[in-house]
Amino acid sequence: MSKGLQKALLGWYDARKRDLPWRKDHDPYRVWLSEIMLQQTTVAAVIPYYERFLSRFPRLADLAAAEEAEVMRLWAGLGYYSRARNLLRAAREVTAAGGRFPDTAEGLRRLPGIGRYTAGAIASIAFGRPEPLVDGNVVRVFARLFALRGDPKGAALQKKVWALAETELERARPGDWNQALMELGATVCTPAGPECSRCPAARRCAAKARGLQDSLPAPARRRAPLKLAWTALLARRDGRVLLWKRGDDERFLPGHWGLPEGRHLPGAAAGKLVRRVNHSITHHRIAVAVREASAPARLPAGARWVPEAEAPALLVSSLFRKALAV
Ligand code: ADE
Repeated sequence: MSKGLQKALLGWYDARKRDLPWRKDHDPYRVWLSEIMLQQTTVAAVIPYYERFLSRFPRLADLAAAEEAEVMRLWAGLGYYSRARNLLRAAREVTAAGGRFPDTAEGLRRLPGIGRYTAGAIASIAFGRPEPLVDGNVVRVFARLFALRGDPKGAALQKKVWALAETELERARPGDWNQALMELGATVCTPAGPECSRCPAARRCAAKARGLQDSLPAPARRRAPLKLAWTALLARRDGRVLLWKRGDDERFLPGHWGLPEGRHLPGAAAGKLVRRVNHSITHHRIAVAVREASAPARLPAGARWVPEAEAPALLVSSLFRKALAV
């Protein structure tokens, strides 16, 4: 380990770190919630959700006692809804076991929704454990500091970076060290156009020394999105709309309320086009044709007539909110 790097980066972090709502204390519940929300989502998008969530569920026990539907509504718009479902499951498990979070990375990883990154984040930030972590920012920062080549999403580079995250870890202040690496990646050592003139580690950066800071790491190969076409059926009757609770085994939006697709209601004939909406979920681009339909005489389990005014409260995914123009 090169002590100079630790001193330079931690000094910069102490002076320049952003004032973020989850940095006010090291409460494990708050650290956990922020780290789950920050997966796949930017700091700016997370802040209002984080604050609303905490004002509704100030303590772990409040969340554990919540209905899943309410948790999903508070999550609506953040996407990747399995995060919210796992959050509630983990809150209930921890509460049932006495209300204290496991304080080791190994114990944390047994909870739903907590993988290697999140376990390292909570163990180091909330409990001061000397555990490393690697996210997209950390991969980029180490790939540049050590001039590592390779696909940043590929197993080979990931493995090298996890090894460096372990050997470079500042064991006296692991939570601040991990956050400093992510902070540097988010604010200075950015994907395009890193601002080396503001970087506390520029003198120690192997990519900078070789003029490679703009070409490392190689951009991740982008998969072209897969295009899917759905037909959503819009049946209305006496001020009610026919909604559909998706099964837990659905590939997309499991457990969500929405409009039935054609395959859900084989007896219903699709009629006039009402609107088209587009929606992206991970690598998929879904084109939805919303069509008028009359409901089949016998409704399958999963279908329910809901007063139109009550439908918005059930719809969490913006795919269906767009489809119903709510
Ligand atoms: N990204 C995810 N968690 C973070 C944290 N605690 N600090 C900075 N960036 C982050």
